[in-house]
Amino acid sequence: MQPVNVGLLGLGTVGAGAVNLLERNGVEITRRAGREIRVTRAAVRNPDKARECDVAGIDIGTDCNAIVTDPDIHVVLELIGGDTEAYDLVMAAIANGKHVVTANKHLIALHGNEIFAAADEAGVVVSFEAAVAGGIPIIKAMRESLAANHIEWVAGIINGTGNFILSQMMFEDQSFEDALADAQRLGFAEADPTFDVEGIDAAHKLAIIGAIAFGIPLSFDKIFTQGIRDIDSVDIEYCAELGYRIKHLGIARRQDTGVELRVHPTLVSQKALLANVEGEKNAIMVYGDAVGPTVYYGAGAGAGPTASSVVADLIDTVRIMSIDPKGRVPHLAFQPDAITNETV
Ligand code: HSE
Repeated sequence: MQPVNVGLLGLGTVGAGAVNLLERNGVEITRRAGREIRVTRAAVRNPDKARECDVAGIDIGTDCNAIVTDPDIHVVLELIGGDTEAYDLVMAAIANGKHVVTANKHLIALHGNEIFAAADEAGVVVSFEAAVAGGIPIIKAMRESLAANHIEWVAGIINGTGNFILSQMMFEDQSFEDALADAQRLGFAEADPTFDVEGIDAAHKLAIIGAIAFGIPLSFDKIFTQGIRDIDSVDIEYCAELGYRIKHLGIARRQDTGVELRVHPTLVSQKALLANVEGEKNAIMVYGDAVGPTVYYGAGAGAGPTASSVVADLIDTVRIMSIDPKGRVPHLAFQPDAITNETV
């Protein structure tokens, strides 16, 4: 089988993480995808900049349009962020028959309805696992593993920067400003940290969660959104005295009249699971009528965790591309002989 060629838009932390992961776990990834996945082109702002990955074999330029129109590129991996240039490029990629993988929550939350309609029309797949909670497989969990459930509610910590700031204020006596500066230094915060501290980043993610959980259109503009900027150390201390922690939650709940979507600081009992999620970690609870409560916990940001989701989407995309006319996916995700031989 011919390799699948991937064109990268952006080769920063996450892009480099994806290239490294494809290299490091290439044998397993090829086995699971059924075909080799190769990054053959990348478009970046500054091609001379040093990269955090081996770029041998990647044709690096500055022209994103050249990638989305290149007939040899099968899948476009959009990692430039924002909702303007990224929107034009993703729509152009779809119009040119490319599958798309993106980690861009801003883009999906604001323009997903249009993007998915265009993808359906063009017969291509747009995947976005990394857009919500980084390395936590929450999209696949809700869409696939919990597909038989009537989902009643979803609640979680879906912005690592906000949770890090609240944790630092609670346990390290840090000021809001110092904790935010640390989150920026450690690379969790958005390029514009207003998105983190005002709840906009969490609302982007909640819009996506709501659409997947309840089958509604992406509804970012209808979300009640409040950030953590006004929380003071004194608030945190008083809440602790009463047995609570302040957590910034995204909540999506089915109601008789529709779906409630809100993002705001919430008092959570110190005994509750979500109260004990600390630092930059994310955690999401999903309540399904058959399964009951389930919990998903892990790293919501960073090169490795985000690349984990991005590359999983690439693998899924390749499997979908490889479905034959009879609907068969032409490989197994495991090889019985290999397991027999390798098991001791
Ligand atoms: N700024 C985001 C966060 C990054 O802190 O969660 C991952 O989406």
